[in-house]
Amino acid sequence: MRTLLANGPNLSQLGTRDPGVYGTATLADIERAVGDVVGDVDAFQSEYEGALVERLHAARSDGTSAVILNPGALTHYSYVLRDAVEMLDVPVVEVHLSQVHAREPFRHHSVISAVVTATISGVGPYGYHLAALAALQLAGEQQ
Ligand code: DQA
Repeated sequence: MRTLLANGPNLSQLGTRDPGVYGTATLADIERAVGDVVGDVDAFQSEYEGALVERLHAARSDGTSAVILNPGALTHYSYVLRDAVEMLDVPVVEVHLSQVHAREPFRHHSVISAVVTATISGVGPYGYHLAALAALQLAGEQQ
């Protein structure tokens, strides 16, 4: 069971980025917490849409059994990322730290949600822990 944890633009700044909205955990804290649940985690973060797309392409053939993905603001408009997610055959859990539906209107819609297995939003950093549990369960069911 190998889990890809992929985070998009600006999530590298967790810890100091708007802690009232995103909490105080750093991305390293989150990567460790996910690893504690799933064991084998491959953590990837990029500020670039194309780099995320390339990493998802690689996940189609590198033994990845589940993906946990927080696309950041790409969530709301990236059809490129959506198409890459749609190509995956393994369970994908979309995570948002904040409750996107209670924020600005442009955050209410995710172009990614229609092609993922599950979405977790509004639980803060602990949402990644829940996503890791879900990834384990969903990957187990798919075997
Ligand atoms: C986010 C929500 C997005 O709207 C925002 O652009 C982010 C983080 C979240 O985790 O709550 O970068 O995906």
